[in-house]
Amino acid sequence: MKILVTGGIGYIGSHTVCELLDNDYEVVIVDNLCNSKKDVVNKIEEITKKQVKFYEGDVCDKKILEKIFKENKIEAVIHFASLKAVGESVEKPLLYYRNNLDATMSLLEVMNKYNCKKIVFSSSATVYGKPKTLPIKEDFVLMTTNPYGTTKLVIENILKDLYISDNEWSIAVLRYFNPIGAHKSGLIGENPNGIPNNLMPYIIKVATKELPYLNIFGDDYDTKDGTGVRDYIHVVDLAKGHLCAIKKILEEKGIDYYNLGTGHGYSVLELVKTFEKVNNVKINYKIVNRRPGDIDACYADCTYAFLKLGFKASKGIEDMCIDSYNFIKKQNNLK
Ligand code: NAD
Ligand code: UFG
Repeated sequence: MKILVTGGIGYIGSHTVCELLDNDYEVVIVDNLCNSKKDVVNKIEEITKKQVKFYEGDVCDKKILEKIFKENKIEAVIHFASLKAVGESVEKPLLYYRNNLDATMSLLEVMNKYNCKKIVFSSSATVYGKPKTLPIKEDFVLMTTNPYGTTKLVIENILKDLYISDNEWSIAVLRYFNPIGAHKSGLIGENPNGIPNNLMPYIIKVATKELPYLNIFGDDYDTKDGTGVRDYIHVVDLAKGHLCAIKKILEEKGIDYYNLGTGHGYSVLELVKTFEKVNNVKINYKIVNRRPGDIDACYADCTYAFLKLGFKASKGIEDMCIDSYNFIKKQNNLK
């Protein structure tokens, strides 16, 4: 069974490819390296002791997609390829709309042409905007607050319209909450260049002393300790969720939407304190103003993914903190 994974050497993609290979799927990856390094292909092969076929190319480019579909019998696609930085999307909306929408349109058109009508799409909890109640269920009202989020919502609508027009499609839309952590080997993980936008990549740069302290964006939210609350999910659990989704779309036609989280909300301070404790390292921080656009709390109701996909996250925030730090220590050759 051959699966095409777009954006397959990125953070979530690389962990998902490892899970697919470990479960005897054959994997073809296409990635243009705009936010990843080719070396990840070797790391994936080192971890899994299996081969993966890699095409360097842009998913917006139908020529490369045609080549892939001609050269491989692709049964299903997992579509990760996307730009994902919320702040950058506000500054460069055209870049985000062009890349995220164009890539998806080219992919769906080529899939249609080659009669491959099974897709798992990476959406995001960002499509729920500022939820009125918690935990968040899949049938909550959808609204977005930035161009990145809007690209996800527009793609969800495109997929819905596609299914309405042709019931042969099988589509799983996965709405991720906050993935952190890394593979236990320490060979793959998340280490963005420059100043990170997201909390865990920032914490690990403070832990390795690349940055002097963490800015905590606000301690006056209506939460347990005033700092923002999120549903952090270990990236390996998230990757396993994709296997559940692939099984589902291979079995059944239709379109469906699933929250992938743990169902637990942790505050920024709780994450920082846990990171310090399990890794025996000090994380200096300052409380600063709220970050524009942030919401106070966000966590998932995971019942539907459990009932329909049999998916349940198993790793806690201790594991997430240990594995994130283990990855960065290995990257930086630290003890
Ligand atoms: P990532 O940036 O690490 O991975 C995305 C990969 O896609 C990168 O390797 C990049 O080079 C590639 N890519 C981007 N545009 C491309 C294009 N046009 N053609 C070919 N390759 C392209 O991001 P990630 O954290 O692994 O996220 C994967 C998916 O999950 C994305 O769709 C993202 O929007 C979504 N998501 C991520 C998070 C998160 O917090 N990480 C949360 C919700 C949803
Ligand atoms: N935070 C800080 N300091 C930082 C970074 C973040 O205090 O330097 C706080 C934020 O205010 C928030 C929490 O840490 O309370 C988490 O922030 P992240 O930036 O790590 O994550 P977000 O929940 O803001 O957003 C992420 C992705 C979005 C995605 C969303 C839901 O960046 O793309 O999760 O999946 F949509």
